[in-house]
Amino acid sequence: MTVTYPPKISLAQLPTPLRHLKRFSSRLNGPQIWLKQDDLTHSMMSGNKVRKLEFVLADALAAGADTLITCGGLQSNHCRATAIAGAQLGLNVHLILRGSMPELADGNHLLDLLAGAAVSVYPAAEYQRNLSSLFAEWSHHYHEQGKTPYLIPTGASNGVGVWGYVAAFEEIIRDCEQAGFTPDAIVCATGSGGTQAGLTLGSTLTGAAIPVIGIAVCDSVDYFEKRIHDDVISAQQLYPHLMPDSTVVERLQIITLDSYIGPGYAQGYPELYKEIASLARGEGVVLDPVYTGKALVGLVNEVSSGCMKGMGNIVFVHTGGLFGLFPYRDVFTDFLAGAG
Ligand SMILES: Cc1ncc(COP(=O)(O)O)c(C=O)c1O
Repeated sequence: MTVTYPPKISLAQLPTPLRHLKRFSSRLNGPQIWLKQDDLTHSMMSGNKVRKLEFVLADALAAGADTLITCGGLQSNHCRATAIAGAQLGLNVHLILRGSMPELADGNHLLDLLAGAAVSVYPAAEYQRNLSSLFAEWSHHYHEQGKTPYLIPTGASNGVGVWGYVAAFEEIIRDCEQAGFTPDAIVCATGSGGTQAGLTLGSTLTGAAIPVIGIAVCDSVDYFEKRIHDDVISAQQLYPHLMPDSTVVERLQIITLDSYIGPGYAQGYPELYKEIASLARGEGVVLDPVYTGKALVGLVNEVSSGCMKGMGNIVFVHTGGLFGLFPYRDVFTDFLAGAG
C-alpha cells in the first residue's frame, strides 16, 4: 500500500546506504546482518533525529516559528541535531538539558554551543519533576520578547516526527529489494520510542508486516507499548486523511526488549564495551555506548540464544550517536588497556 506523508523539508542526505556486514554475520553464525547507515544522514545532524526533524521543522516553519525549544540529556543527539538544524534554517534554538554543567564542553554539548544554541542545564531531579513547567516558562519568556517559539518534545518523538521513520521503513524495503531479499526483522535502539514507532507504523501502513524489534536503552516494555501507541494515535488525530483506516492502531505489532539496558540509561557494562570494540575492529563500524551499542548487544544475544532462528536477513539500523562516544573516553581507555 502506498503511504502519503505530511509536508517535510529536506535536511538529510537520503537514501542512506545499506551495507552487508559479512564478517559480523559469519561470527554470529545465524542470519545475515545488514547495516542501515543512518549514521550517514548528515555530518553534523547525523543519526536518526534528522529524519524526524524534516517533518517537525516543516510544521514549525508552517506555524511561523522563529525559535525552537527542545530538551534532552546533556549529551543529547537530538538536541545537537536541532541546534545545527536551527542554525541552518536561521532559527533560534533553546535547549533544556538534564545534567550538570561540565567544566569543559564535550561531544554533543560542545556542538550545541558552537551552533549558537542557548543552553539551560538543570539537575536530573528538577528536570524530571518540572520539565513541562520549564517548557512553559521558556516559551513564555520568548513570547514576551515578541518571538514565536515552537516546542519539540524529547527526541522529536510525537505524531509529527514519527513520519520520518515511516519513510525510513519504505526506504529500507527498497534497499533490501535492490539487494535481492526481504528482511525478516528490523532491529533498532529505542529511547524516546519515535524511531521504533515510525518503523512499526511503516510496517503496518505498507502491509509489509515485517517485525520491528526495539532494543530499549531505558524504560520498560510496557512503557514503550504505551508510548508508541500514543505517538501513532497522535499521528492519526493530526493527519486523519493520511491514516483513514481506523484499525491501524490496533494492528500495530510493538516488539520491545528491555533486558539490555544494564545498570541504567547511559550507564555501560563490560559486554557493551567488548561488542562495540569488536564491531569497530571487525567491520570498521563505530557505535556509541548509550544507544546503538546496547542495541548491538541485544542483537548478538538474541541471535546466539536462538531467538532469531530461521531468519535469513536482519536489518540493524545504525541510528548515529558518534559524538556521544567521546565523553566516554575514560571507560574505553580503561577497557582497551584491560583488553590488551
Ligand atoms: C544515536 C541514537 N540512537 C537511537 C536513539 C533512540 O531513538 P528514539 O529516541 O527515536 O527512540 C537515539 C535517541 O534517543 C539516539 O540518539
